[in-house]
Amino acid sequence: MDLGLTDRNAFVAGASSGLGLAAAIALAREGCRVAICSRSEERLAAARKVVIHTSGATPDRVMALVCDVTQESQIALAMKQAAGRQGGLHILLTNAGGPPTGLVDDFDADGWRQGLELNLLSTINLCRHALPYLRKAAASDGHARIVMVTSIAAKQPVQTLYLSNTARAGVQGFAKTLSEEVGPLGITVNTVLPGFTRTKRLQHLVDDIIARTGKTKEEVEAGWAAGAALRRMADPEEFAAAVAFLAGKPAAFITGIALPVDGGYSKHVF
Ligand SMILES: NC(=O)c1ccc[n+]([C@@H]2O[C@H](COP(=O)([O-])OP(=O)(O)OC[C@H]3O[C@@H](n4cnc5c(N)ncnc54)[C@H](OP(=O)(O)O)[C@@H]3O)[C@@H](O)[C@H]2O)c1
Repeated sequence: MDLGLTDRNAFVAGASSGLGLAAAIALAREGCRVAICSRSEERLAAARKVVIHTSGATPDRVMALVCDVTQESQIALAMKQAAGRQGGLHILLTNAGGPPTGLVDDFDADGWRQGLELNLLSTINLCRHALPYLRKAAASDGHARIVMVTSIAAKQPVQTLYLSNTARAGVQGFAKTLSEEVGPLGITVNTVLPGFTRTKRLQHLVDDIIARTGKTKEEVEAGWAAGAALRRMADPEEFAAAVAFLAGKPAAFITGIALPVDGGYSKHVF
């Protein structure tokens, strides 16, 4: 299927590893110019090489921008640089790292605030600063997309992931509301909810569970796999394929949805 992404400009947040990196590769492979961001210049430089090498994109089509998405001023600057150098912006993927694990008493007010800044406010601020460019793109040829990375925790809370469970629910409410406001302009807004997917973040979760329960890595992963209808975990590329589809032209009539890419882990009829 031709996703109609040739020469579209994408901004991919949290893209030096894991799901963000996989999404950047998928979009570059489909012909997008891609701006990737994360906090570390070194990790970004390595990720940029991976995007170029894996997607076959020429170096001028992949730019790396250091940006901590919890800092609004850095988002504003990165978005301006990306749109300025790429000649506008058609696609935004919001993403960041995952918050620390813990039970309700494990976080003080600052801990809760930081969790919401990382996964909720960053999403809102990325959208706010991308929207002027996306409105222009939608007005010129009707192709403008926002895709947000959330989590299956948004549908089915994961024990010890209080911060994630709380922030993702907020993102879902924001996304649905935004889809109504910008829909008339032709901008679609969708969320993608990863299930247990093999990334650095998941390795941290495994280590955390091992420390809490004494289980082995194999036992933890087997438990996750057993919970999914497909009886396995995902690879980042499987998540990225859903992002690329939602970013593409054929998804023009899909907005306001929350798409789990979890192998059937969340047990909801709708
Ligand atoms: N993997 C899963 O199974 C899974 C399941 C459900 C939900 N999720 C969620 O999906 C998101 C991505 O997860 P992942 O598995 O891809 O994690 P990951 O491999 O740890 O990657 C996280 C990425 O975000 C960047 N990042 C972290 N904090 C940032 C910040 N403040 N500003 C900008 N970039 C930042 C990191 O780069 P730098 O360190 O260079 O900044 C890295 O590129 C997370 O929110 C995670 O909780 C993941």
